[in-house]
Amino acid sequence: MVGEGGAARSGGGPHAAPAIPTTVAPDAGTLASLVSVAAADWIRAHPGGLVCLAAGDTPLPVYARLVALQEAGRVDLRSVFYVGLDEWVGLGYADRGSCLQVMADAFYGPAGIPVERRRVFDGLADPHAECAAVDRWIADHGGIGFTLLGIGLNGHIGFNEPGTPDQDGCVVVDLDDTTKAVSVKYFGAARPVRQGVSVSARTLAKADTVLLMASGAKKAPIIARLRAGADPTEVPAARLLGHPGLHLFLDREADGG
Ligand code: GLP
Repeated sequence: MVGEGGAARSGGGPHAAPAIPTTVAPDAGTLASLVSVAAADWIRAHPGGLVCLAAGDTPLPVYARLVALQEAGRVDLRSVFYVGLDEWVGLGYADRGSCLQVMADAFYGPAGIPVERRRVFDGLADPHAECAAVDRWIADHGGIGFTLLGIGLNGHIGFNEPGTPDQDGCVVVDLDDTTKAVSVKYFGAARPVRQGVSVSARTLAKADTVLLMASGAKKAPIIARLRAGADPTEVPAARLLGHPGLHLFLDREADGG
């Protein structure tokens, strides 16, 4: 069973944060199916639109389902354009766990997205030049219309870390200690990553549809802080609060159940 809403769970005091529209799925598989249908619906309705997709582990089952929806003739994933959300500075496709490797192998390749329909950060290039180039790509495609985001244990979205300046466009970021520690799960070994490049939270918040996805009990504490109306300098995802197109997609564990 899928639960909608969230007002009842968000507390009721006079200073309670406004409830974020939320869908709670019973398990991670159902969650991925629901998110893939929401993404496919947006893509069908916005040919030529610009889509920004997170790497990370959480949305990977969504990408497999989107490819399956395309194979079933229910969506043409090549009808839109794509922009990468973030990348580890210093890593490229040959590096297991780079955002490019993850997204190329999990989505762009299987979905058959031509290179001229996507612009992702090149982690091996100068990060400031990459930011300028991705900024141009976003502007040339009318701004990001749809974004699917995960959330880090520290509340980051993309690589917008606690303390990352709130600015327009793409940003070069010093990685938080939590992010460096968590990075081992992507790389399979410790790697000396220090910086990331990312679309800024402010630019993400200009999208008309912002889906924030979380699964598993380990995400429950940060989701609870977000819903309580955290300070965005401490929980960057809180920069999305109040966005009319923001929708949380959680499994029961991330919901705190
Ligand atoms: C990573 C990425 C984000 C991702 C987030 C959550 O470090 N920079 O783009 O959404 O952290 O990752 P995961 O889904 O693996 O928990």
